[in-house]
Amino acid sequence: MTEWTREQRYQRIEDVDQQTIDALTEQVDASKYRQRYHIQPTTGLLNDPNGLIYFDGKYYVSHQWFPLGPVHGLKYWYTYTSDDLVHFEPIGPTLKPDTKDDSHGVYSGSAFEYNQHLYYMYTANHRDKDWARSSSQHIAKVDADGKVEKFPKAVIAEPPAGYTQHFRDPKVFTKDGVYYAIIAAQNDLEQGRVLQYRSNDIVNWEFQGEIETKLDEFGYMWECPDYFNLNGYDILMFCPQGLASKGEHFKNIYQSGYIMGQYDIDNLTMNHGDFHELDHGFDFYAPQTFIDEQGRRILIGWMGLPDTNYPSDEDGWAHCLTIPRVLTIEEGKLKQRPIPALESLRTNEETALGYANKFPRQLHPYEGTQYELIIDILENDATAIYFELRTSKQHSTLITYDTKSRTLTLDRSESGLLPDPVEGTTRTTTLSQDLTQLRIYVDTSSVEIFCNNGESVLTSRIFTDENATGIKTSTESGQAYLRFTKYDLKDDK
Ligand code: FRU
Repeated sequence: MTEWTREQRYQRIEDVDQQTIDALTEQVDASKYRQRYHIQPTTGLLNDPNGLIYFDGKYYVSHQWFPLGPVHGLKYWYTYTSDDLVHFEPIGPTLKPDTKDDSHGVYSGSAFEYNQHLYYMYTANHRDKDWARSSSQHIAKVDADGKVEKFPKAVIAEPPAGYTQHFRDPKVFTKDGVYYAIIAAQNDLEQGRVLQYRSNDIVNWEFQGEIETKLDEFGYMWECPDYFNLNGYDILMFCPQGLASKGEHFKNIYQSGYIMGQYDIDNLTMNHGDFHELDHGFDFYAPQTFIDEQGRRILIGWMGLPDTNYPSDEDGWAHCLTIPRVLTIEEGKLKQRPIPALESLRTNEETALGYANKFPRQLHPYEGTQYELIIDILENDATAIYFELRTSKQHSTLITYDTKSRTLTLDRSESGLLPDPVEGTTRTTTLSQDLTQLRIYVDTSSVEIFCNNGESVLTSRIFTDENATGIKTSTESGQAYLRFTKYDLKDDK
């Protein structure tokens, strides 16, 4: 890959001539990895979802964006609006790095409503001439067209004493009429933390302290925090960096997960159980949640990871957002399901009912590169069931369910080109019950695998040839009786 100089990474799109942008756009549009129904960058690199909200009859979805290439450079917010979280209208770049404080990037943040107006709180990233970082938290007011007006100065100008300049990603929420912001932080001992501020007027923010958890030694930085109450449980989500992998856990470069329990917001104490990963695939990070029109808690993540090169880099772009998921807690466990509105993309229903056997590997009559596939496991006497997607002579993305251990493994070693560096070519999740259903969303270069109606999700990019379209099933030994329901997915916007 070509090396990007610091100067190239911190170039503003406003300073680049139209011809260069047109050439880049043409290169990106021609990429064989372009997705059909996921939010992806028009050019360059997308990372975290930002500013998610349902406000005044519309959804707002933004993402971190470096327009000029597939690298982490000078970040903007690129914004879409939507009526249904399935079809999106681009507004374009909204928060731009155009002040001294955000000279080196408008970093992640969230959306909130105050006095019937929409606002964003975000991190301004500044570097001095010695490349030393300073981070401050800012607010911008958003008008009905999505245009923003930044407040003249930071509302939180610097991290409190005892914390480093890794201080970012404010998530604003309200409780009993009070505004709170929780912010990702690192203490002077280089341990990840979440800090809490409160405000009555959104201009003056009082530092309350750090949220006390049982995770004192749990990575050197916690990015992108989120807090909400769901079905009577308090959830604190964050992305710890610097955890060593442990068995099937924490295998990605950085993690993304949550702790659940009861949060005492006045005393800043969280009584909680273990840290759980939100996703068991290769490419998932920096999720953010919000409440939809019907009051449901929705999560959108970044389908990508920091510090990793991806095959689409060659085509001038990188990454996409995940499909939105509805969160619930059922019997004390977090469930994640695709939003029902995605059903509006379905066309060409095809169904099949039959046995998967050791031999022959059953090739299903239907195939595709953008589809939703529901596999119901009606009977299972097999030791292991193999599900293969996007198959061709050269390629296969393999899902193995091992019946005895109830483990489900995604193997992308034969999927095609791979991101780099990445630990291993498999990701595994252990289910608490026998596998009864897989619901899989396939797009040109991704798979999102929902197991057992929301129990566990594996999200991954796959960089497979267009002609790898087959779907196959077989078993290690014994038989499984399966029902397949497949829909092509079409974004006809
Ligand atoms: C997470 C993150 C955030 C930061 C943003 C910068 O991926 O590092 O902590 O605000 O990306 O693009």
